[in-house]
Amino acid sequence: MDSLIIRGGNRLEGVLTASGAKNAALPILAATLLTAGACSLRSVPVLRDITTMLTLLSSLGAKIARRQDGEVLIESDSVQVFTAPYDLVKTMRASILVLGPLLARHGQARVSFPGGCAIGSRPVDLHIRALEAMGAVITVDGGYIVASAPEGLKGVDFTFDTVTVGGTENAVMAASLAAGTSVLRNVAREPEIVDLVRFLRAMGAHIEGEGTDTLTLQGVTTLNGAPYEVMPDRIEVGTYLVAAAATGGSLRVEGICCEVLGVVLDKLGQTGADLDEGDNWISLDMRGERPKAVDIVTEPFPGFPTDMQAQFTALNTVAQGTSRVTETVFENRLMQAHEMKRMGADIAIEGDSACITGRPSLQGAPVMASDLRASASLVIAGLVASGETRIDRIYHIDRGYENIEGKLQCLGADIRRIST
Ligand code: UD1
Repeated sequence: MDSLIIRGGNRLEGVLTASGAKNAALPILAATLLTAGACSLRSVPVLRDITTMLTLLSSLGAKIARRQDGEVLIESDSVQVFTAPYDLVKTMRASILVLGPLLARHGQARVSFPGGCAIGSRPVDLHIRALEAMGAVITVDGGYIVASAPEGLKGVDFTFDTVTVGGTENAVMAASLAAGTSVLRNVAREPEIVDLVRFLRAMGAHIEGEGTDTLTLQGVTTLNGAPYEVMPDRIEVGTYLVAAAATGGSLRVEGICCEVLGVVLDKLGQTGADLDEGDNWISLDMRGERPKAVDIVTEPFPGFPTDMQAQFTALNTVAQGTSRVTETVFENRLMQAHEMKRMGADIAIEGDSACITGRPSLQGAPVMASDLRASASLVIAGLVASGETRIDRIYHIDRGYENIEGKLQCLGADIRRIST
């Protein structure tokens, strides 16, 4: 099992290029099941979750070629298996995203029920309810969601009770092939949803309203294959910007525009960082200073993303002042705080909030990664700690960060991977 060894204290300085977004690439890969045509996808990041999705698509019968430069060619004309097995779904919950496409194009799907995970119970009831509203018959049998729609799906006017990213993605993919008009209300507005809709439109889908809380679709009978470039990863970029700010450093990231980072950039500005931006780049400079503490409340987009909460918690542990970080999207997503306390952080957990008093520094310690973004926050904590930090169970981080140690080494960090 791999671990990361970090000797903290170096300021991060330099230039990075954004990778393609994991959370956009996953639904876009699932959407290739909606067509028999060939799709060529560029900027697909090299990550464990992407490999899992490609393994799943291939197990269904899709033909896949993955090129060195991040391009993936997929043809789903010969898909004849409609089951997403437990072994794959248990390693990646986003496997549920094949449910809508399989059902819409083939009238049947069997997807292992994703269980709870480290950050909470994470139900999929709203995915199921939206598909049932389109006419699907869904039961649970032997741990599997078994769905059928022998006569095809029909258009629907459906309102989500809670804003859900994955639920919106499953529903919009299914509705693009459902007969008639669909109106999906209270949908997620995340940039990754916008990216999925743009890909579906390139495939011939008729969809309006992406980026708002209502999507309107006119179903079509078939979709075509299409080329598409996946958007840059705003969470990856945000993570490196926070790491640079926490270390008092300076960083320029190429290949991303500031709009997709939204409120994350506002919060970085509040830490005292100088921010600058161009058409396709963002830069941050802390001028060697210690960041100021910032309060955070997570919310669906355009609010502050839950996927950036742990990284800001790490920054706040070494910031000037006190802060409160409140998690409202997931029920159990402050676990990184317990590991950070082992590094000397002053954090008190009060319900869904972490109250943090910034210290001038942390001390390196052996710590354990518990989920993807918690792992990233421990890397940031290791970068600002004195001495050595060893992070175990970093398979979590490989799910979502392409070559993290290589990118941080280029910025001057003392970080290496060891296999034990
Ligand atoms: C996606 C992202 C994840 C991010 C999250 C919130 C991917 C692959 N993952 O996860 O990185 O942290 O959005 O931005 O894109 N819920 C229900 N019923 C449902 C579905 C969701 O109650 O049927 C609840 C969840 O428990 C959670 C909230 O809705 O409390 C938001 O979850 P959701 O937006 O669905 O997250 P994911 O799509 O799983």
